[in-house]
Amino acid sequence: MWKGRFSKATADLVQQYGESISYDWRLYPHDIAGSIAHARAQITAGILTRDEFELIENGLREIEKEIAAGEFEFSIECEDIHMNIEAALTRKIGPAGAKLHTARSRNDQVATDTRLYCRTAVDNLRDLLSGLQGALLDCADRYAATVLPGYTHLQRGQPVTVGHHLLAYVEMIARDKDRLGDARKRLNVSPLGSGALAGSTINLDREAIAKELGFDSVSTNSMDAISDRDYVAELIFDFALIGAHLSRLSEDLILWCSSEFGFATLSDAHTTGSSLMPQKKNPDVCELTRGKTGRLYGNLTAILTAIKGLPLTYNRDLQEDKEPLFDSIDTLTLALRVNTEMISEMVINVETCEAAASDPLLLATDLADWLVKEGVPFRSAHELVGKAVAAAVNTNTPLDQLDLTQIDPAFKPEASAVFSLQTALAARTNPGAPSIENVKAQIARWRKA
Ligand code: ARG
Repeated sequence: MWKGRFSKATADLVQQYGESISYDWRLYPHDIAGSIAHARAQITAGILTRDEFELIENGLREIEKEIAAGEFEFSIECEDIHMNIEAALTRKIGPAGAKLHTARSRNDQVATDTRLYCRTAVDNLRDLLSGLQGALLDCADRYAATVLPGYTHLQRGQPVTVGHHLLAYVEMIARDKDRLGDARKRLNVSPLGSGALAGSTINLDREAIAKELGFDSVSTNSMDAISDRDYVAELIFDFALIGAHLSRLSEDLILWCSSEFGFATLSDAHTTGSSLMPQKKNPDVCELTRGKTGRLYGNLTAILTAIKGLPLTYNRDLQEDKEPLFDSIDTLTLALRVNTEMISEMVINVETCEAAASDPLLLATDLADWLVKEGVPFRSAHELVGKAVAAAVNTNTPLDQLDLTQIDPAFKPEASAVFSLQTALAARTNPGAPSIENVKAQIARWRKA
């Protein structure tokens, strides 16, 4: 398609090195939609007759069906999806096909296709994120009142509930969805008409093309439109952060499923055994999610590095945007699907959770708060309770069995009332705190959302 000035064929190795058809074939529905919109604008501009347009549209629809049915033969001589489709169209319909590329370059074409692809991917991923939120929410609902130690530094801190713990992930995923929605606004701009880099002397109705493709607006600088891959980098960042959230959830579940914690049990369908140790039941899905987050971060580094040294405008380096993008989307799509299924079937071991939460040390802060309510300044209260904890540890006595009045007269016998998990949780009524009422209200709010 660009052989006019060349007298030698492209070397085989160069073809192998430069082809993108092996991965950019998946842009085909968007490439075809873009070509049809572009061709329609060519009628008004007097480039195509209505009959020629119809030939092009029907030809492209046939090609679309062939690709979808796996009957299309891609060739690496045609390098990428854009030239594969255009070559097939011209083979099919003759001269009209050769007019399609008027006032267009593969540079604005690939930018258009990639934006459309990203838009679809964002919509799918946002649905999958909602699905995962749903699974977490169902589990949070089932165990809304199941008390569990909350940890800092992976040391027991204060009591929470399983519902509260899981809702923390529902919040993270809500931000992830927002971020994707926000990125979608920025990427939904049509570059078509920017040509190779400086528009075209043949003016097509860019607004009409954009409208047909569902874009919100048209780009306002052709050089930026051709070379901008911010939206790819931004999405890959968003995907990486989703990976971070899924990875943290994975780590929690890996701990919960260990014999040491024993808080949760995953279904046999979502765990694997060992070929050597017959007793093993491993949380591989969680480990893979944690591991695959490394790929998501790697893809972010790849795209940021690929674009950093590029002079305006298009450089072939930009072709390196697609594999990290597609890989992140594929990785995340499967991660979200399998995690959603796994969490839907996860069982929380209520007794083990509540036994762990019955450790009276979890209520040491509540004891200090009790002193504060008696008028003791918090720092002094902290110190007194610290002494009580030391006595408990040194005498191997549970904190709630000590005679606190012996440690300091500020502790009155009524102080022992704090050693009730129910009271402790019920008192945590401030917005965002884990009283069971609050947790239930949050569950109701998320259900509505
Ligand atoms: N396969 C190329 C890419 O993905 C399409 C654009 C090629 N443009 C060019 N001037 N060689 O970036």
